[in-house]
Amino acid sequence: MIELRSDTFTQPNRAMRQAMYDAELGDDVYGEDPSVNALEARMAELCQAEAALFVSSGTMGNLIPLIILGGRGKEVILHENAHILQHEIGGVAAVAGTLPIAAPGERGILRSAAVKSRIKETDYDIAHTSLIAIENTHNFEGGTCWQKEQLEEISTLARYKNLPIHMDGARCFNASAATGLSLSDIFSYCTTANLCLSKGLGAPVGSMIVGPKEIIHESRRWRKILGGGMRQAGVLAAAGLYALEHNRERLKEDHFHARMLAESLEKCSWAEVDIRRVETNIVFVKTPGKDAKKIESLLAEKGVRVINTAEEEIRLVTSLSASLEDINTACRILEELEM
Ligand SMILES: Cc1ncc(COP(=O)(O)O)c(C=O)c1O
Repeated sequence: MIELRSDTFTQPNRAMRQAMYDAELGDDVYGEDPSVNALEARMAELCQAEAALFVSSGTMGNLIPLIILGGRGKEVILHENAHILQHEIGGVAAVAGTLPIAAPGERGILRSAAVKSRIKETDYDIAHTSLIAIENTHNFEGGTCWQKEQLEEISTLARYKNLPIHMDGARCFNASAATGLSLSDIFSYCTTANLCLSKGLGAPVGSMIVGPKEIIHESRRWRKILGGGMRQAGVLAAAGLYALEHNRERLKEDHFHARMLAESLEKCSWAEVDIRRVETNIVFVKTPGKDAKKIESLLAEKGVRVINTAEEEIRLVTSLSASLEDINTACRILEELEM
């Protein structure tokens, strides 16, 4: 099977498993796991952040900053198609108690005019804005990247309004590979960020929160409250360290593979794809008048796994799970599919 449903399906290779096996361990709840400490130090260094915290998932990596910076009865402004809003089971409201205020934005990018008009800061009888949340790359807008000028624009507004920015950077490594902006360049516009190790980087588990020391200290306490204090978590952190060392450079290959798929899809009568939107490893495809579920199962029968994201839409995501050879095969299967 050629796996194109998500970059979360990657399996650790032998070398990553060996690194996990060899990891030095301690009790991370006591801050004594050397592998976790090394991973946190490495991620802080990469982002030029004061500190970092290893958490179990991207969802937790978003939820904790929402709790701390969002807060109960306050409002967070985010994109209408944001993962935090649409795909994290309402944790922003259910756990953080923060009211999500959705704003539109082309390709998932929040422009300052759309955000500014939604900021509430004065009257006593309304909820006030406490946070702006951005997503980079933007998953459900097609893996699109924030450009430097766009980051500058939103952070200028945030500074002016004295609001923090949290970045859901589940795929920020892809954004960095695609835009040429370093992780620290991108993070310099944010207060906190969530960076996933278990997407394109190929680690089996884990995400990092990066930010100022006091926020990371508080995040550690919230992680414990949420049941995310793990003991010998170094087995997992070792995979993350391996991924940071070996799997960042190759993300460009995944981006190239996504373009190959998009080019093949452009030739298919049943598919509509906007190749300009294919900036990283995600390809969204409209299937006008055709049942996307049926396309998903026909492709699965032929050995290609994609996912239907709407009645007439499928998504393909490239990752370590699919080699160049797999992509060539998938392109042929897509082009041969009759609907
Ligand atoms: C943009 C984005 N943010 C956050 C997450 C949540 O990550 P996790 O599945 O590790 O909780 C995902 C998961 O796919 C995602 O795509």
